[in-house]
Amino acid sequence: MAPRNIPPLTTQEFSLFRQFVEAESGISLGDDKQYLLESRLKGLMADMHCTGYGELYRLIKEDKRGHVRQKLIDAITTNETLWFRDKAPFIILEEFFLPAMVERIRNGKFRVRIWSAACSTGQEPYSLAIVIHNFLQRLGDAKITPQQFEIIATDISKEALGVAKMGAYDKFSMERGMDRSNIDRYFKQKQRFWIINPILKKMIDFRQFNLLGKFSELGTFDMVLCRNVAIYFSHETKIKLYDKIRQVLKPQGLFVLGSTESMTFYTQAFKSKEFKSNIYYEAVDS
Ligand SMILES: C[S@@+](CC[C@H](N)C(=O)[O-])C[C@H]1O[C@@H](n2cnc3c(N)ncnc32)[C@H](O)[C@@H]1O
Repeated sequence: MAPRNIPPLTTQEFSLFRQFVEAESGISLGDDKQYLLESRLKGLMADMHCTGYGELYRLIKEDKRGHVRQKLIDAITTNETLWFRDKAPFIILEEFFLPAMVERIRNGKFRVRIWSAACSTGQEPYSLAIVIHNFLQRLGDAKITPQQFEIIATDISKEALGVAKMGAYDKFSMERGMDRSNIDRYFKQKQRFWIINPILKKMIDFRQFNLLGKFSELGTFDMVLCRNVAIYFSHETKIKLYDKIRQVLKPQGLFVLGSTESMTFYTQAFKSKEFKSNIYYEAVDS
């Protein structure tokens, strides 16, 4: 239960939280987001038994172990996602990227690495794994196995990652983009939840990772999906993010954005390409 009679978030408190959230996560809350922030903080206020937003802010600032800070991040992030979102990346994956990668594996490439860079509750990386698994089954080449495809799925939100790692989805989530044949192939229903097949789980390495951090620990990638997260970042943060992504893309690596996103104003380091009217990006000098 939320404590009653909490005074509304003041403009000064809004400004403090806003600076803190941007410094921690890159999420830039516009002037009009005071009400949104207040409503997102209500649950945390109740959890922490705070009677005012100033008190919650102090707890977060003094939080040595980072638990309250993590809860703030979990409350602030928007984890909206669905299966096979926008379709385009999965058409590119299946019809363009995977045939090219199979050829390269046959010519000696060891492993294909794909990064789902803000994976939320897991629908994006599991959708990738499903497309890869179906493709390899159809291919029927015993020398090319799912183990040669490594998906790294990261997010800043511990709560969202918890759901992703669990791989159990309710009816509402399943109805958002998952089709019957893949349900039959890759899920087992247990009471109210559909549990993902461990075969797909094994293909994904879920890790907590902040896009503001250094990317070097992740290695390099043949394909990066960074979709519907930079929309929350400032102009400067987007420039830095795209520059870092460029550095972890392998030569001829593919970069995929969300359907409403574009890089035009932030960097000239990528060129946009089309496959059957679906857009992806490659680094300019690759
Ligand atoms: C709207 S979801 C997008 C999920 C998925 N990529 C898609 O397109 O369906 C945005 C995700 O970005 C994550 N996020 C926000 N800021 C982040 C940061 N600094 N580092 C890593 N992930 C972040 C959020 O936790 C959230 O799960």
